[in-house]
Amino acid sequence: MANRRGKKTRIIALGKIRDKRGNLSVIQAGKNLPFDIARTYWIYDVPGGEHRGGHAYHKSQELIIALSGSFDIQVHDGENESIFHLDRCDKALYVPAGTWRRICNFATNSTALVIASTPYSPRDYIRDFSKFTELKKNKQL
Ligand code: TYD
Repeated sequence: MANRRGKKTRIIALGKIRDKRGNLSVIQAGKNLPFDIARTYWIYDVPGGEHRGGHAYHKSQELIIALSGSFDIQVHDGENESIFHLDRCDKALYVPAGTWRRICNFATNSTALVIASTPYSPRDYIRDFSKFTELKKNKQL
C-alpha cells in the first residue's frame, strides 16, 4: 500500500537494546524515522469498544507505536484496506500522508504514541471518507 508519492505504509522495526535493567528502544531523526519530527502526542484511557482517528491528512506523516497494550490500525489508500496489529514497543507503523487511518480494538491500559511530521492543523484533516476516496480517485491526494 503506497501513497501518491510512492511512500508505503509499513511496519518499522525499531530495534531493542536489551539490558537486565530493562529494555530500551530509540527513534532518531535521520536514522530510523522517515521524516523530521514536528509533534508528538499520545492516546490513552480509551474506553472499551472506542476507536480514535477515522481521518486522513493532506500533509502529515506519522509513526504510531503501542507503548503499552495493543490495538489495531486500519489503513486505506483509496482502493485497498489493510489492518496492522501493534503490540510491541520496538515496532512502529509508518503512515504516509494521504492515508485514511483508524485506530481500534484497544486493549485495556493501552497507550498509542504518535509522532507526526507537521504541527497540529485542523485544515490538514480529511474527516469524510467519501471525500477522501474522491480526492484519491482524482489524484488530488
Ligand atoms: P483528533 O485529531 O480529532 O483525535 P482523533 O485522532 O482521535 O480523531 O483530536 C481530538 C482533539 O484534540 C481535537 O479537539 C483537536 C485536539 N488536538 C490538538 O489540539 N493537537 C493535536 O496534536 C491533536 C492530534 C489533537
